[in-house]
Amino acid sequence: MVLRQILVLLLVLATSCSSSSALFGSSTSPPSVTTPDLSSVFSTLSPSLLRNFQSSPLHFPSLLPSPSSLFNLSTLDSLVGTHVSGHTTSRTNGTWLPSPLNPNQLSGLPLQSSHITSALKRNSTISFNTASSLFPSISSLSLSSLSELRYPCNVNVYISPVNDGEESVVPVHTDRQDVLIFQTEGIKKWTVYPRPLIPRTSNNKIKLNPLSRGKAGDVISPLELTSPTSYTLKPGDVLYVPLGFPHHTSTVSRTESIHLTLGLDTVVWGLTLMHLRWACMSFSGLKYDVDMGGVGDEGYWKCMKGIMFEGEEREEDVEKFMRELEPERKDFPSRKEIKEVIRIFQKHKEKIIEVQAKMYTNVNPHDPENIVKAVRGGRDLDMCMAELGTAVKCKAFYEEYMKKVEVADGQLEKMK
Ligand SMILES: *[C@@H]1O[C@H](CO)[C@@H](O)[C@H](O)[C@H]1NC(C)=O
Ligand SMILES: *[C@@H]1O[C@H](CO)[C@@H](O)[C@H](O)[C@H]1NC(C)=O
Ligand SMILES: *[C@@H]1O[C@H](CO)[C@@H](O)[C@H](O)[C@H]1NC(C)=O
Repeated sequence: MVLRQILVLLLVLATSCSSSSALFGSSTSPPSVTTPDLSSVFSTLSPSLLRNFQSSPLHFPSLLPSPSSLFNLSTLDSLVGTHVSGHTTSRTNGTWLPSPLNPNQLSGLPLQSSHITSALKRNSTISFNTASSLFPSISSLSLSSLSELRYPCNVNVYISPVNDGEESVVPVHTDRQDVLIFQTEGIKKWTVYPRPLIPRTSNNKIKLNPLSRGKAGDVISPLELTSPTSYTLKPGDVLYVPLGFPHHTSTVSRTESIHLTLGLDTVVWGLTLMHLRWACMSFSGLKYDVDMGGVGDEGYWKCMKGIMFEGEEREEDVEKFMRELEPERKDFPSRKEIKEVIRIFQKHKEKIIEVQAKMYTNVNPHDPENIVKAVRGGRDLDMCMAELGTAVKCKAFYEEYMKKVEVADGQLEKMK
């Protein structure tokens, strides 16, 4: 059950986090960008982030030194002439519908500046996933995050048009990552709620994934939501929204609002207590299934906890966690085995960070090699996961990720 859940999560995530469709480039001169030094931003927010990690939202007003140099409307123009795929989302007949930013993408024609201006005129929100591999200024933000926070990360960017109303842009939902929001232009209002009770069936099974509520047809009822806190983000502000906390946004700007979301991908790359528990059991040849429905809300959120801010994990704590999760259980790995698995995870985490750092270095959307580099990076991340499976003696996990590696290898072969 745990393994299946991990794999399902990971499959869903892969589409949003290592999707390569956003990365096609064409060959013209590289954009010239001066990127601000952002390491001080992360060293400033890191102590309070650590203290409040996955427990409460945080607002850091005016933290970015020169927010619009990170991303502004003309940054978008740097993509004109490339085959990068962005999205626009506009309100049609009361529902939000996504469409490609470049309507000629399928016919192989590059992005034109009129595509951008007309999307903004249509009141459409423009967005890019995997923006760390598209925009040099965002890749430099991602690199600072990797080196200061020591967590894998992925950035998306959202550009919302002028709007005088209090229109809700994105309905209330939860995400699978802890998110840092960087407001670079205009104003955006965020409302964040504490985690609602986990919806369960009559026989106590988890009915809806608590990490993707409000998506794919699920609507979070107002009755589930309590104690909202609202934040009005101005250029330079940073907001932290913990994993699983419902939130929604609205644009209240008389100018375009631009923000970046930097997701800390613990769930995606196997860096949660649940993964660590699974790995310890598998490594010791013990049964790793656990009934997640039976562990209670507190137990569930403990499982989802991101692991390994430096030096945090000790084998006695991991053992305590496993015993508390299954009080009836008799067979547990030895301290020595747990210690070895922690060491494996530390190495795994360093490897993931190393691969991402490589992906986010020398990004240039005008270089045709950009897409090759991004696909290769995604492949290498999946390879890290496959190797984690081998290291903890879980063949099913290894095989699942090797399938993805093979798909990526096929894509790379075609690109030669
Ligand atoms: C807009 O952003 C780019 C980086 O994407 C930066 O080079 C440029 O200086 C910024 N322009 C302004 C007016 O801040
Ligand atoms: C919006 O609704 C109207 C009336 O129901 C319909 O005629 C029209 O095709 C719809 N437009 C889109 C884009 O779905
Ligand atoms: C876009 O939004 C503005 C402000 O809410 C509104 O005045 C304008 O009519 C909208 N434009 C379109 C094309 O919907």
